[in-house]
Amino acid sequence: MWTELKALADAYGDRHILDLFQNGNRAEAFSVKDCNMLFDYSKTQIDDEIRAGLIAVAEKADLATRRDAMFGGAKINETEGRAVLHTALRNLNGTPVGVDGQDVMPEVLATLDKMSAVAENVRASDFTDVVNIGIGGSDLGPAMAYIALSPYHSGPRCHFVSNVDGADIADTLAGLDPAKTLFIVASKTFTTIETMTNARTALAWLEKAGLSADGRFIALSSNKEKAAEWGIPEDRVLGFEDWVGGRYSMWGPIGLSLMIGIGPDNFRDFLVGGQAMDLHFRNAPFDQNMPVMLALVGMWHNQVLDYATRAVLPYDNRLARLPAYLQQLEMESNGKGVSMDGADLTCQSGPVVWGEPGTNGQHAFYQLIHQGTRVVPCEFLVAAEGHEPDLAHHHALLVANCLAQSEALLRGRDLDEARGKVADKFEGDELERQARHRVFPGNRPTTTLAYQKLTPQMLGQIIALYEHRVFVEGVILGINSYDQWGVELGKELATALGPLVTGETGTDGKDGSTAQLVQYVRSFL
Ligand code: F6P
Repeated sequence: MWTELKALADAYGDRHILDLFQNGNRAEAFSVKDCNMLFDYSKTQIDDEIRAGLIAVAEKADLATRRDAMFGGAKINETEGRAVLHTALRNLNGTPVGVDGQDVMPEVLATLDKMSAVAENVRASDFTDVVNIGIGGSDLGPAMAYIALSPYHSGPRCHFVSNVDGADIADTLAGLDPAKTLFIVASKTFTTIETMTNARTALAWLEKAGLSADGRFIALSSNKEKAAEWGIPEDRVLGFEDWVGGRYSMWGPIGLSLMIGIGPDNFRDFLVGGQAMDLHFRNAPFDQNMPVMLALVGMWHNQVLDYATRAVLPYDNRLARLPAYLQQLEMESNGKGVSMDGADLTCQSGPVVWGEPGTNGQHAFYQLIHQGTRVVPCEFLVAAEGHEPDLAHHHALLVANCLAQSEALLRGRDLDEARGKVADKFEGDELERQARHRVFPGNRPTTTLAYQKLTPQMLGQIIALYEHRVFVEGVILGINSYDQWGVELGKELATALGPLVTGETGTDGKDGSTAQLVQYVRSFL
C-alpha cells in the first residue's frame, strides 16, 4: 500500500520544503480551514502528487464506508464485539443511533440530564473539594480538560488521583477536609486495581475522621453490579454502555468531575464542539477534512518516511496534559502489531507521541529537534487569543515563539550564515569549527493547528479532531483501534508478583533479574 508513496519520497531526494513555497498559494492549498480552526501542513514535503497518493490510500481502505459504519453503530470493535459510539454522547439533537436495532439516544440524553442534575447538586452543596479516582481513560480526559478550561472553573475544586503509588492519594488528601470532600470513583469495569485500591484508601480516610461513605461517593461505571458490591447504591451510579471505550469516555459520565468544575452549560458547549467536529468529519471532502488530513500527514511521516516519534507542542499552557492524554488516545489505540484479521502488520504501527507545552520545551528538548540526527515531526498548537486581556503582551510573545519555531525548523541556517554569525569573534580553522556548531539543517517537517481561543467548545473540537485522526489511521492500518490487549500481560504479572514483593512467596521460577530486584527491594523492608 505504501510502495508508491515511498517511491515518491525517494524521488524528491534532498528537495527543500522552503522551495515548495515558490508556488504562491502553497500555504492555503496545503491547509484546512473550518470551525474557527486552521490546520496548516504546508511546512511538510507533501505536494499535490503525494497528497493524491495519500488520499488514494484512504480511499483504498474504504475510509468513508468505515466512518459511516462507526457513526451508524456497527460493531467495528471486532475483537470485543462492540460498537464504537462515543460520538453518540455528543449527538445533542438526538438523531437516532441504533445498536442491535435499539436507538441508544433516549438513554444517552437521559444520562446527560442526570449528570447535569448531579453536577448542579454538588455545585450547590457544601462540598468544597471533589476527588476523581480513576486511571487511564477514567482520569486523563477529565484531568486534562479541567486544567485546559480553568478560566471556566466555577464549582468546587476538583482533584484527580490515578496512581496506585500511595503518594498520589496522600498528597491529594493532605489539607482536604473529609467532611467537605466528595469522591467520584470512575472506572468503566470497576475492577481496575489502582482505582479500587485508591477508593478503599479514600473510604478509610473518611472513616478515620468518623464519617461514613454515605452521600460521599459517586460511581461512574458500566458495571453497576460491581459498584453495588463495593457499596455504592444504584442511584449514585452514573452508567454508560460498553460501546464507550475508556479513552473515548470523557464526553459522558466519566466527564462528571469536569462538569462539576465548569458547570453543565460549559460542559454542554464542550459537547457542542465535539459534535461540530463530527459533522465536519462526516461531510468534508477528504482533502478538506481536518481529521483525515491530520491522519494522512502523520502517516506520511511515520509509515512512509519512518520517523518514529511525533512531538505535540501546545503553545497553550493550559493544554499541558494534552500530550499525556494523546499518548493514551493514540498509543493505546494504534500501537498494535496485528491487523483485524490477525495477520502481522506489514508497516509500522502508530508512532510514539510525546510533548510538552511551548515555550517550556524550547528550553529543554528543542535542541534535539533542531540539531539532532533524528527527524521529529512537530505538531504545534496555538490560540489566536488568550484568556488574559491584561497580559496580551505575553500572548503576543507566545504566538511569536510558536511561529518562530516552525519557521526555524523549516529554514534552518546554513554554514555561510553560521560563519557570518561568528566571523567577528573567530578566524581560520576556529571560525570553521565554531560555525559548524551553529548550523541548523532545517527542512524539518512541522504542522500547526491554530484556533481562535481555548473555549469549552474549541476544546471539544480539538479532542474530537484527534479522536477521528486515530480512527482514520486505524482504518488505513487495518487494525482495531478500540481494544487494548497489550496492557493485559503486565496486569497479570503484577497480580502474581504482589505476594513476592510482600514476601509471602519466594522468587522460584522468576528470571534472574526479576528475582534480584524483588530481593533487593525486600532487603529494605
Ligand atoms: O489498562 C488499560 C485500561 O483498560 C484503559 O483502557 C482504561 O482507560 C483504563 O485501563 C481504566 O479502566 P477502567 O475505567 O475500567 O478502570
